[in-house]
Amino acid sequence: MRLTPALANDLSQAIAGLEIRDAIPLLAKRFHGAITFATSLGAEDQVLTHIVSTLSQPIEIFTLDTGRLHPETYTLLDRTVQKYGVPITVYFPDYRELETWITTHGINGFYDSIENRKACCRLRKLEPLNRALAGKSLWITGLRAAQSVTRQSMELIEWDEAHQILKYNPLLHWSEEEIWHYAKQHNVPVNPLHTQGFASIGCAPCTRAVKNGENIRAGRWWWESPEHKECGLHK
Ligand code: ADX
Ligand code: SF4
Repeated sequence: MRLTPALANDLSQAIAGLEIRDAIPLLAKRFHGAITFATSLGAEDQVLTHIVSTLSQPIEIFTLDTGRLHPETYTLLDRTVQKYGVPITVYFPDYRELETWITTHGINGFYDSIENRKACCRLRKLEPLNRALAGKSLWITGLRAAQSVTRQSMELIEWDEAHQILKYNPLLHWSEEEIWHYAKQHNVPVNPLHTQGFASIGCAPCTRAVKNGENIRAGRWWWESPEHKECGLHK
């Protein structure tokens, strides 16, 4: 099937009003074997892992291991695979490129400038993401509109121009409360860092806990202004 931006609209209409549990099998039938779900192991993605793995559809689940994740995130990855009995493919950065970059810019060189930070995200996340999406037609994410200013104009199913792929954001209109209610109700394993104030979790050196009243993504790349707070995975 040829992938086009117009297909995103057709599919949005086809799944309009459906529960996620009904929409996913419909999409899995249409894109048999060419659907992939990207999990960062954050609370939203854990909810989706619960849904995807209990639906038993031919959907690959993958995560990008940047090499700089919190120990708690690795423990959760292991726990999640054990609990749901599904494999999670782990993509690593290209070690040669990373070695050169670190040798030139320093192990924590991403703090030095926005350019360096974006270069590190490109090496540790974007290049592996491109490999993870190769040959796939539909990419499932745990993005929510309420997470940030940069995410408010996203669609349930949209065309990702950068990766030439259809992107499905099933939790787009869920609130944070709904995520936590679902996780609790279904005994979904979550990162213990959430209870220490880490609302959104990425790489350890680029994530801090947030204070009451702060935006949930305020702890990501906290030294940058809100409009820069994307690593390039999502344009
Ligand atoms: S980020 O762009 O700021 O890092 P965020 O952590 O909010 O993204 O996650 C948004 C969505 O991007 C997740 O629901 C997931 O689909 C995908 N994602 C983010 N980080 C990763 C990762 N390390 N591995 C796989 N998918 C990820
Ligand atoms: Fe590098 Fe930080 Fe981006 Fe992780 S979040 S890839 S450590 S700049």
